[in-house]
Amino acid sequence: MTKKAILLAGGAGTRLYPLTKIVCKQLLPIYDKPMICYPLATLMLGGLREVLIISTPKDLPMLEDYLGDGSQLGIRIAYAAQPKPEGIAQAFLIAADFIAGAGASLILGDNIFYGKLDFYRAALALEHGACIFGYQVRDPERYGVVEFGPDGRALSLEEKPKVPKSHFAVPGLYVYDERVVEFCRELRLSARGELEITDLNTAYLQRNELHVKLLTRGMAWLDTGTQTSLLEAGNYIATIEHRQGLKVACLEEVAFRMGFINQTQLGALIDRLPKAEYREYLSLVCEEGPSAVHPEPER
Ligand code: G1P
Repeated sequence: MTKKAILLAGGAGTRLYPLTKIVCKQLLPIYDKPMICYPLATLMLGGLREVLIISTPKDLPMLEDYLGDGSQLGIRIAYAAQPKPEGIAQAFLIAADFIAGAGASLILGDNIFYGKLDFYRAALALEHGACIFGYQVRDPERYGVVEFGPDGRALSLEEKPKVPKSHFAVPGLYVYDERVVEFCRELRLSARGELEITDLNTAYLQRNELHVKLLTRGMAWLDTGTQTSLLEAGNYIATIEHRQGLKVACLEEVAFRMGFINQTQLGALIDRLPKAEYREYLSLVCEEGPSAVHPEPER
């Protein structure tokens, strides 16, 4: 069964205050489009078309106003509230009815991936267990950290350890089989009062059912957690887009290239856009047509 997609766009965004006083973090710009486009594009490029966006009751209306029911992109988007920030793993309890016995993939609304996504597609194809990733960073103490044994197998997972056992952070992109809701129901609140995603992953690890794949050096996993990293992520996207003349995570283009919408539907979407560089870009994509020679988006 195709896995369901969950995009968690919660949190108070306190670290980015006052940027997040009016608009939630996931709608802040990363160069030329709102942040949420990047994780949503990742899910779509994985081939997932049923998405649940979870956010705070305050922010949901704005997100819904922007993305609607997803039909314009040939996908289905539903919305659900996480009233209090009680942990990433809580998303699966909120999403239990939506998941309805299928497997699920969760992406955090502030995680940006750029590069070939076959690692993700391979993870989505797994029928049993869970799959998470490892990415080398300079400052692992800011993240979930995975430790590997000499044989390359994952030994332990720790959430924001003061003394990290490795340089491998666990990005906010996770894939689980259909037991994910059941496992989440067994989790206990952590010392900071949250259902920790790291505890869920540890539950799979202890059963010997956790795959941990290292992301290669050519892959970009960008952070948006601080003012500086937000700016750096925007600059990174701007550099790539200027160099190639191709947009990263342009949702309408992704929907078109993935075959979720056809040329006529893309044309109708473009007609509704204001005169802007974004519209000009999409017009070119549409004119070229689906069979034009082009580097596949982010593959
Ligand atoms: C969360 C997770 C952490 C993960 C990170 C990725 O941390 O708890 O394990 O490495 O996302 O972005 P947060 O960003 O909520 O502090």
